[in-house]
Amino acid sequence: MIASCGESKPPATTSTPPAPPAEAPALPTAEPSPPVTEAEPSAAASVPAPAEQPKNLAARKLAPESIERGQATYTKNCASCHGPNGEATPGWRIPAADGRYPPPPLDGSAHAWHHSTETLETMIRLGSPGAGMPAWDGKLTKQEIDDVIVWIKSLWPDEVYDIWYKEIENKPEPKPN
Ligand code: HEC
Repeated sequence: MIASCGESKPPATTSTPPAPPAEAPALPTAEPSPPVTEAEPSAAASVPAPAEQPKNLAARKLAPESIERGQATYTKNCASCHGPNGEATPGWRIPAADGRYPPPPLDGSAHAWHHSTETLETMIRLGSPGAGMPAWDGKLTKQEIDDVIVWIKSLWPDEVYDIWYKEIENKPEPKPN
């Protein structure tokens, strides 16, 4: 159920980002530089638009063929509901008259990245028919589902992917939610 999952911000991390590379020679008028400030807390608290985020796909070791196949499978089967790039529709947080929520984004701006690969696979295989997510078991092969998941992961901004990898993928989920 997505409604209870309004928290789409990443869990707090203890690690700090690596220091920026050495700067160009200081101008003659240089004053003691102010401490490097992180992004505004309010901005840091919300997940920024994925399209603006850098993506180091090579570091993720996602096979390019798999991304490509996954995209094709996605476009054919999932894009009509979840949006061509997994962005969903702007009103996805607003339930329809029947109380159902529209399909959520899968691009790292919502909740999909809170699930391990294994959980994502189960969610896609079994769907959530009561909530409008079809079950894909028997309609897509395991390979197709695996590839779609790889493609979905390729959409996530680096920040989201890194936290997902550390906090979710490498940790057993106590309960699916
Ligand atoms: C008919 C519309 C529809 C289609 C087609 C569809 N989905 Fe969904 N999907 C939904 C809805 C609605 C939900 C939210 C279900 C819920 O609230 O439990 C959802 C949820 C999900 C989630 C969980 C997201 C989260 O935030 O936890 C994943 C992952 C997902 N879909 C992947 C896919 C993939 C991959 C495909 C294509 C193979 C697909 N969906 C096709 C409607 C659709």
